[in-house]
Amino acid sequence: MTLAIPDSLRATARTLASTPIAALFARDPSRVERLTFEWEGFRVDLAKERITPEALAELCAHAGGAGLGRWIAALFAGEKVNVSEARPALHPALRDPSTTPLSVDGADLRRDIRVSRERIGAIADAIRRGDRCGATGKPIRHLVHMGIGGSDLGPRLVVDALSPGTPVEGPGVSFVANVDPVALDRALAPLDPASTAFVVASKSFSTQETLVNANAALAWLAAALPPSADTHAHLIAATARPQAAAEFGVPADAILPFHESVGGRFSLWSSVGVTIAAALGNRVHAELLAGAHAMDRHFATAPFAANLPVVLALAGLWNASALGYRQRIVVPYAEALAHLPTYLQQLSLESNGKRVTRDGSPVEGRTAPALWGGIGTDGQHAFFQWLHQGTDVAPVEFVVPAVPVRGDARRHALLVANALAQSQALALGRTSDDVAADLARRGAPVDASSVAARACPGDRPSTTILTPRLDARTLGSLLALYEHRTFVEGVLWGINPFDQFGVELGKMLADPIAAALAGDGELAAGADASTRALVAHVHAMMNSGSEP
Ligand code: F6P
Repeated sequence: MTLAIPDSLRATARTLASTPIAALFARDPSRVERLTFEWEGFRVDLAKERITPEALAELCAHAGGAGLGRWIAALFAGEKVNVSEARPALHPALRDPSTTPLSVDGADLRRDIRVSRERIGAIADAIRRGDRCGATGKPIRHLVHMGIGGSDLGPRLVVDALSPGTPVEGPGVSFVANVDPVALDRALAPLDPASTAFVVASKSFSTQETLVNANAALAWLAAALPPSADTHAHLIAATARPQAAAEFGVPADAILPFHESVGGRFSLWSSVGVTIAAALGNRVHAELLAGAHAMDRHFATAPFAANLPVVLALAGLWNASALGYRQRIVVPYAEALAHLPTYLQQLSLESNGKRVTRDGSPVEGRTAPALWGGIGTDGQHAFFQWLHQGTDVAPVEFVVPAVPVRGDARRHALLVANALAQSQALALGRTSDDVAADLARRGAPVDASSVAARACPGDRPSTTILTPRLDARTLGSLLALYEHRTFVEGVLWGINPFDQFGVELGKMLADPIAAALAGDGELAAGADASTRALVAHVHAMMNSGSEP
């Protein structure tokens, strides 16, 4: 097997691969109890996974032997766990209320974090009170959060998840990530420039999409405001490059720095979260961080066999590296978690979509499976057919708030019932005999093709994560749960889950192509014939005067 999965479990994996999940229930009456893990109202049910309590226990022991405990301690101690960039991963520190100094690069990081939290809170309060004004003196009533990847997905998910349905105090908020002009233009169309501010969220303050959008926003403001208006007064920057933000023209008192060692996909806990505090209020923002911190303490202290991030990671590793399932489908049964699958895509695939280990050697076996998904019940009318009767088996993770986020408990119960039914149907399926009997009962043809088309093989694994509710604290804990699950998987695959060098090549190749499309430059001599032909075609179309 691999570092993640011990050789001692090789035979077990082969046996379980051909053992129906239904049989696992039949042979162990205590299966549910032994594969259910609870913490502060969270319930993780692994009983419908193709795993046994014994295999999970052996994986826990293996994780210990692989040094997982030392890596967890190093993460919380601010050690350089991001080995390729020689940096710590400081997202847990951002939500830790502790006042004990945490020395990073010789400075007490906790003081900087406290100052940052105070500045975020002050800006958020001022906007919510209508005290923060634009260049013409009008109070800011709308925030446009401009960022991409981790500078967008976390705040977007949190604001969408926790925004009450009814209009309440606080600014309106829009999120713009894509460089496609449709994204920004659509967001700006209904807005009043005089009362609109922009959060430029960019750790590097060099991401092309975000800077192009920020300049377009400034142009939008300049076109609408009086010539004397200082359009930069409408900017707030959240970045690890405050000097770059200052050079861009962001006023000094509107630059909210955060530490270089906070990873982009973990930055919602940093000053990138100023939009969360402005949109939802500082109390909710504090609850979110408190929930994440509570999960941090659980992760740092609970024995592996009772540690939600650890058992979720081990079940994921078992599916991906022992059983060979190369997809992971996340289905939140909550409209409020509509952005969770996309958020987890970046978290998991940018962290663990890697092919070399921490020391640069090729990984043994496979690492992160493809991750995608969508909300329930909508997915039942989109991709669940594939899940139930397709030729590929893909483990599903159901994320289900046990009580209503908001609204009618009866309709919420229908939502939960669908989630539990889908998990049951995936596991147990529907035999040909049952289908034939049902067809006969209904007086319908019972020929082989009619039966075969309706039978569901079942035996398809899933995990159900029940959250106690879906308020700020619970959401904070849920996101931290997935952060730490991802970290554990990375450690056990032997990779560095904190860098993302794979994203650089495409960005680098885009520049000469953009120049060629704009007629400002030539493609490199070595550019492949396909790209060269495509560029020529698009350039011709763009210059043919064809209607948009
Ligand atoms: O996708 C690459 C990446 O660097 C992500 O890790 C990051 O969240 C995103 O781009 C945006 O980067 P920045 O916050 O520096 O603009």
